[in-house]
Amino acid sequence: MTGVSEDMGDIGESTRSVHAAAEPDEKTGSVQTPIFQTSTYVQRDFADHTGYEYSRTQNPTRDALEEAVAVLESPTVKAFGSAFASGMAAITTVTQLLESGSHIIAASDLYGGTGRYFDDVLSKFGVETTYSDLGPGELEACTQENTRMLWLETPTNPLLNIHDITTLSAQAHERGWIVVVDNTFASPVLQRPLELGADISCSSSTKYVSGHSDVISGYVVTRSEELNEKIRFLQNTMGAVPSPLDCFLNLRGIRTLGIRMERHCDNAEYIVERLATHPKVTRLLYPGLKTHPGHDVAASQMRRFGGMISLEIEGGEAGARRFAKASRLFAIAESLGSVESLVNHPWSMTHAATPEERRLEVGVTPGLIRLSVGIEDAEDLWDDINQALAASS
Ligand SMILES: Cc1ncc(COP(=O)(O)O)c(C=O)c1O
Repeated sequence: MTGVSEDMGDIGESTRSVHAAAEPDEKTGSVQTPIFQTSTYVQRDFADHTGYEYSRTQNPTRDALEEAVAVLESPTVKAFGSAFASGMAAITTVTQLLESGSHIIAASDLYGGTGRYFDDVLSKFGVETTYSDLGPGELEACTQENTRMLWLETPTNPLLNIHDITTLSAQAHERGWIVVVDNTFASPVLQRPLELGADISCSSSTKYVSGHSDVISGYVVTRSEELNEKIRFLQNTMGAVPSPLDCFLNLRGIRTLGIRMERHCDNAEYIVERLATHPKVTRLLYPGLKTHPGHDVAASQMRRFGGMISLEIEGGEAGARRFAKASRLFAIAESLGSVESLVNHPWSMTHAATPEERRLEVGVTPGLIRLSVGIEDAEDLWDDINQALAASS
């Protein structure tokens, strides 16, 4: 809804997380934003209201969340946030900016649900997608006369590939395309796509932003008034809005986002350092590794490298299954970015909807496992991984 508070630029990430849109309630002084659990608002006369008419259109708890995500994604330049009932609701709404007959270029390794939506739903409405690894010369090769949008996810899910937001945004803007970045894996604490040139940063706030595996939600932030107006129109028209309670849970999670991200990163770095020399690990993906092909770009566009690690171990899929079952602290579950550690098997879980051919082409193998490193004590997590690796043979 609203934009930036002027003093939100020159402060640390934890301070910003605690204070983003955290104004006390005007009527009561309540420190936390109340949960306005209402569908409608009494009007003084026909169409004479307080600014709130109906909760699909506006809700004060949602306002606070929308302001908070705008401040987090764009602390120094005015931006506009819109909250949604899920990350997918945010994504589907953004693509409704396009006309039928348009074309999207998307990173080939991206969340399976996004690809499923592009391929199986959006295509029915005449919007086609070309997938690309977006390497040198690739953008030109994929360009069509009807291309209108570049869709990036960085780091990607699940391979943690990195895309250069600044360079790709500049190239896309030369062609007049809208650049969207799915910022779910980094969170706005580690990466701010709008500062790097993207037009829209969207996120599944189900993950790091809310952070406690207790809510499904998403958001869209843009600095463009024109795009914001269209998104707000679509948000109200399509109606995939979050409930007031879900908005509150997001706000509650946001207060610790800064400090949680530091801990996720500390723990992931601790574990990666040990995995890197472990004899059973046959493939290790983490953008903080100097050997990662996207390391330099990640270092330039992210504050730190995040809490996600993907790896393969000896024994392929069977070894991966034994590892996951032997772990006591990494629960087998979909999702990521919460306080507790989770292990996921992209092949059969999050990316099962991606055609097998594309999975294999990009490197999502049956042996790949994805760790979402939580905020437990690093030594405990490593002890657990170490014993699970031993049990994986
Ligand atoms: C990168 C990414 N984007 C979008 C989504 C979809 O979000 P949601 O599950 O909140 O609809 C996910 C879900 O895992 C994701 O990982």
